Amino acid sequence: MRVLVVGGGAREHALAWGLHTAGAEVAAIAAKENPGLRRIDPEFQRGDPSNPGSVVERAKVRKVDLAVIGPEAPLAAGVSDALRDAGIAVFGPSKAAARIESSKEFARNFLSQHGISGVPKFASARTTEEVDAAIRTVGEPFVVKPIGLSSGKGVWVQGRDFATSEEGAAYAKRLLALGGDGIVLEERLDGEEFSLMAFVTDSGVYPMPVVLDYKRALEDDKGPNTGGMGTASQRDHLLPFLSAAGRDRALEIVRKTAEAMRADGLLYRGVLYGGFMLTAKGPYLLEFNARFGDPEGLNAIALYEPGDFAHLLEGVAAGSLDPNLVRFRLRASVVKYVVPPGYGTAPRSGGTIQIDEPGIEARGVKLFFGDVEPAGPERFTLGTSRAIALVGEASAIHEASARVEAAVAYVQGEFTWRRDIGSRADMARRTERMRALLVPGSKPSPLPLSVAAPDAPISSAGTAAEVLGDSAPQH
Ligand code: AMP
Ligand code: GLY
Repeated sequence: MRVLVVGGGAREHALAWGLHTAGAEVAAIAAKENPGLRRIDPEFQRGDPSNPGSVVERAKVRKVDLAVIGPEAPLAAGVSDALRDAGIAVFGPSKAAARIESSKEFARNFLSQHGISGVPKFASARTTEEVDAAIRTVGEPFVVKPIGLSSGKGVWVQGRDFATSEEGAAYAKRLLALGGDGIVLEERLDGEEFSLMAFVTDSGVYPMPVVLDYKRALEDDKGPNTGGMGTASQRDHLLPFLSAAGRDRALEIVRKTAEAMRADGLLYRGVLYGGFMLTAKGPYLLEFNARFGDPEGLNAIALYEPGDFAHLLEGVAAGSLDPNLVRFRLRASVVKYVVPPGYGTAPRSGGTIQIDEPGIEARGVKLFFGDVEPAGPERFTLGTSRAIALVGEASAIHEASARVEAAVAYVQGEFTWRRDIGSRADMARRTERMRALLVPGSKPSPLPLSVAAPDAPISSAGTAAEVLGDSAPQH
């Protein structure tokens, strides 16, 4: 099988690696040279992944049977439709269906119209008058987001990024003045976040392990929102603060959304990814993405049972999947991104890093290249985006995190990363925060962290026991 991977970040390197190790021949198209893609595809040439004509031409020249689209921009630009029109199978939804990601307004209206619960109270605005009206509709505290694609950036949360309603209004108006599609104003939800990705075919929805994404640039979730500094996923495919029942309620939202798309004739063959906030009332949807998360996709790809990745993606692209192909190993995994100094605010590109790849490999950690260019033996120049992803696994999240930390020591130069991703202390903090939300006034107590929670039956209400699983106080 010959496969075209569209896009040039670490997620696409991981996709290419998964396909290549499953025996597929991989061609790639990306705007910049990616050292990882170059190794897998020695004939690699640059190209615009978001230009439908260029991608179709590349697919034809490289004689591929399947195209796998990594990022959101090509989906929003209609690349998947152009490839399908040219008779090439595509892993990735149609442009019309990908609006579930490319327009936050469409996503919210779509769910509301189809009676799918779990959407926070929201209002959209395109004029300054509408901003004031939206604040009156939603009330405080609120969150301001651009309607269109913003790579997780540009979202401002009251109490974190701004204090008063006036400051929030001023920020919303500044965003409008910058142009774009307008803004969404949404009630602020309090709780813990998780990402749930699922493969969607013409007839089924198949979940992947739940992943925790560390979006803020700095340790302890300080600093601005980013595309994601790293991720953690637990051995049982849940999280220390999320039980099977909590996950299943989120999956219900994803499933109903996929079914509503089918009912509306929107072609969806790819990944539907819900970004959820687990609140005291259960999971609420913050966003949908129409692709593998980055870094979440790296957890999933690294945990996929070796051998069948190409058949898995091929099945999804064909619209029907053998459920036996959806198999993820029962291991915890942690991803950490090495990023340029100042990433998230004013990244300083142009510096070099030195990577001892055999050292990293000897630690059992995988390395995927992102925004770096080769600059000599073992040396790479940093761009402005995330540079390299290190992926470690173990039986517990904090052990996988420690493995990745050990691997970071084999990277030299000026860069930053988040040490706290997947640490025991961070996991405990999140779980205690969730407990405090669910059981106000409860005292912190030792928790069985990273221990598989038993599969609890789904019950109707979001009780503490249901959401926290085994670790919640029983009452
Ligand atoms: P989004 O791009 O919509 O996923 O937003 C990026 C990040 O902003 C999320 O991962 C949350 O950390 C935060 N955020 C977004 N919406 C809300 C909300 N309604 N309440 C609280 N935090 C939010
Ligand atoms: N990690 C968040 C995203 O992929 O959008």
